[in-house]
Amino acid sequence: MRKKIIAGNWKMNMTPSKAVDLVNELKPLVVNDEVDVVFCVPAIDIIPVMEATKGTNIQVGAENMYFEDKGAYTGEISPEMLVDAGVKYVIIGHSERREYFAETDETVNKKILKAFEYGITPIICCGESLTQREQGITIDWIRQQIKIAFQNVTAEQAATAVIAYEPIWAIGTGKVATTEQAQEVCSAIRACIAEIYDEATAAAIRIQYGGSVSAASAPELFAQADIDGGLVGGASLKPDFGKIVNYNK
Ligand code: PGA
Repeated sequence: MRKKIIAGNWKMNMTPSKAVDLVNELKPLVVNDEVDVVFCVPAIDIIPVMEATKGTNIQVGAENMYFEDKGAYTGEISPEMLVDAGVKYVIIGHSERREYFAETDETVNKKILKAFEYGITPIICCGESLTQREQGITIDWIRQQIKIAFQNVTAEQAATAVIAYEPIWAIGTGKVATTEQAQEVCSAIRACIAEIYDEATAAAIRIQYGGSVSAASAPELFAQADIDGGLVGGASLKPDFGKIVNYNK
């Protein structure tokens, strides 16, 4: 039985002091033993959020990471820095990073390998554009993203990974994918993992849906056979996130 994982993606929001206020506000609302709760926060917020979440059920994640160990990469954050700060998860390949920061399937793959090397669980993002959906190539596209992302990743590593299926047209638009659309793609992703590895790995890996998840849409989405939680943007900055985490109550 896979444990659900619900992660907030704060994106480029919250100064360090506001971040602590938000954690203190959300802390009592996001208690749910049946769910892994992760706050993925901007790099500069990691240390104060780590401090503010001590003794709670909240785990802290990063929104990005570089694929080299260290060196002359001005502005980047290394896996060792994340580990030293106590970070357990890192979002890799979010569509906004692909769109604005030249992230490719190849850099996504390098980052995933590096995250595993350092014992950080990657939350690997994939998703199609509206044009691709209308062209009927959604599943082909996602399968390609997954196959490249997992190159040279072992079955043992893959079993611990998190994949976030986020249709680009549903991100920040208020246009949530229908439950059927979300389940169809998440199920195709699991089948793809079974093809690359085996049934056991496919059964273990956790697949989230992301894109305008709200307190209203979460219960039905997370009840689907292949949807193991969500990656939540806008709503993760509000008390509503508590309702999303407690979707099953
Ligand atoms: P959204 O963002 O919930 O605001 O649509 C989701 C994401 O980009 O991870």
